[in-house]
Amino acid sequence: MGQNAFNDTFLKACRKEAVPYTPVWYMRQAGRYQPEYREIRKKYSFFEINENPEVCAEVTRLPVEQLGVDAAILFADIMTPLQPIGVEVDMVSGKGPMIRNPIRSLADVERLHSIHPEQSLPFIGETIQLLREQLSVPLIGFAGAPFTLSSYLIEGGPSKDYHKTKGFMYARPKEWQALMDKLADVTVEYLLYQIRSGAQAVQVFDSWVGSVGAEDYEQYIAPTMTKIFTALKQTGIPTIYFGSGTAHLLNIWNGLPVDVLSIDWRISIDEVRALGIEKSVQGNLDPSMLLAPWELLKNKVTAILDQGCKQPGYIFNLGHGVFPEASVETLQRLTQFIHDYTKK
Ligand code: CP3
Repeated sequence: MGQNAFNDTFLKACRKEAVPYTPVWYMRQAGRYQPEYREIRKKYSFFEINENPEVCAEVTRLPVEQLGVDAAILFADIMTPLQPIGVEVDMVSGKGPMIRNPIRSLADVERLHSIHPEQSLPFIGETIQLLREQLSVPLIGFAGAPFTLSSYLIEGGPSKDYHKTKGFMYARPKEWQALMDKLADVTVEYLLYQIRSGAQAVQVFDSWVGSVGAEDYEQYIAPTMTKIFTALKQTGIPTIYFGSGTAHLLNIWNGLPVDVLSIDWRISIDEVRALGIEKSVQGNLDPSMLLAPWELLKNKVTAILDQGCKQPGYIFNLGHGVFPEASVETLQRLTQFIHDYTKK
């Protein structure tokens, strides 16, 4: 633990306990919008940073020290646990993960190995242990959800419409279930390893699942998510489920054994509460607003905070990730504003 008193506002908000002010962290808070990150990236590739505990911990801490946020998120990628199971992935700058051996058949699914994270990802455990000594805010571990991971595995890279992924889901239900089972296993084993190593909360990223309709989500995806969150629940560590464009899925998500629902800007917090959702909520500023004039941004954030603070269990965040054009100064000012405004 750092020299300062430990700041547990984020963990309290996850558990719907009273907090002295609204905790805030930003999705993708470590990245190319930071001059220091760009400097480090000149020396190391993405996965070289990930695999070097000292550098990885430094990159994880950078936004905590620079922005004053109330939580750190481990620097890694949703692709990190896929390499050890036999996926060949290249991180293409500005584009995202590209898969050299995409999944097209049951044989492709069956050739994916199971995961033994202690052996294949020792650097993740080491980074987490190091961070727990260095940080005075909670450390969030994370993993990708099976649908979102499968979208990269099946499309071979980023996609706009997920036709191949959903086509596989509809046309080959048996292969689909085998893939979901395998990836659920990877997600659970990898997150349990992060928790054993010291992660104090875990977020499951299902960034692209909003492309699936509610009935199909219920049939093809919800059983897998129930399995994942049920396994994680045994640890007592708070769990967060993230998606974008998932307002139509929130009623189903509310029935999953997860603690916190992360929402984007396409639905308001008042609307979420009106659905009868009592779980903690995380969100929901449109990241594009980071480019808006300060007065406009401040008014929007004030409205979000007024809604979020109506009941315990609210964490400020963006509806999706910080992007390279965002500025450090804006995020600093925003964090300070959120803390000041909600302290009164
Ligand atoms: O600070 C943090 O948030 C922790 C690190 C983190 C990264 N990726 C590092 C990263 C986290 C939590 C992720 C999650 C992730 N990765 C998601 C889910 C969240 C989301 O944004 O929806 C997804 C879909 C991915 C897949 C991925 N990895 C994409 C689409 C990209 C390209 C986007 C871009 O900005 O270039 C990546 C690469 C990536 N992951 C970078 C970082 C810092 C940029 C790599 C670089 O330095 O070139």
